[in-house]
Amino acid sequence: MTQLSPARKPAAGATPQEPTAAPAKDNPKALYGGTRSRRVTVRDIAAAKERGEKWPMLTAYDAMTASVFDEAGIPVLLVGDSMGNCHLGYESTVPVTLDEIAMLSAAVVRGTERALVVADLPFGSYQEGPVQALRSATRLVKEAGVGAVKLEGGERSAHQVELLVSSGIPVMAHVGLTPQSVHAFGGYPVQGRGEEAAQQLLRDAKAVQDAGAFSVVLEAVPAELAAEVTRSLHIPTVGIGAGAECDAQVLVWTDMAGFTAGRVPRFVKQYLDLRALLGGAAREFAQDVVGGAFPAAEHSFR
Ligand code: KIV
Repeated sequence: MTQLSPARKPAAGATPQEPTAAPAKDNPKALYGGTRSRRVTVRDIAAAKERGEKWPMLTAYDAMTASVFDEAGIPVLLVGDSMGNCHLGYESTVPVTLDEIAMLSAAVVRGTERALVVADLPFGSYQEGPVQALRSATRLVKEAGVGAVKLEGGERSAHQVELLVSSGIPVMAHVGLTPQSVHAFGGYPVQGRGEEAAQQLLRDAKAVQDAGAFSVVLEAVPAELAAEVTRSLHIPTVGIGAGAECDAQVLVWTDMAGFTAGRVPRFVKQYLDLRALLGGAAREFAQDVVGGAFPAAEHSFR
């Protein structure tokens, strides 16, 4: 289902844009629901913002799951460092390495034909400075074949964004709750509450936009503040726990599909109970083996 957002106010200081394209549902170029068969690019994403078109993004960590989302028409897939918690068995995103991101990103690229694949720069792979960031991002683009990278931080990461973008690597930034800073935050608290924190969040979002980021994730931010950021930027905002006014929405796929064990954050909507379905299938298989019902004649060679 393609969604349309109401016309947006132009960013302060920006040239007002008249919608130039057909509504998303009738537009062959729509990011979701369009008929384009080539891979989505960051220019397509910029055009969607101009049209006021909302779009979905999911994480993916392997070729098979990525191919399902690609076939479902999800235009942007993020090989997030959330793989640490939900794929690799770590307690946070902090231990994830560049080698792990590179290997799983290559799998996601191989499993897709149309989605723009964005790979996270993991903790420790860009904080030293722009040159380290460029070295890490170059590896993901050359070895894994991703179309863009994501990194955390606003003003503090602007120099990294600038060098990557000027070197030809599109960057998605990530502000608000940045999980790689879990030890500094003392958990995963909502960000941007209170006037000072809200102003800092706005400055962070503008800093990465000015540095050349093609989009920015807003994580765990009050909905009103996220709406204000979205109105004041000319690049799209990608919300996760940031209300309905963001240009795009992202969810961690294992949360969205009910695969994650235990509690999921309040901002998650679960569309499936995959954990129960898969567990049920495993139990049925085990009972068939123990009871002699599997393999049957049709599963055996003569
Ligand atoms: O790693 C990740 O999956 C992310 C999303 C939650 C935006 O950064």
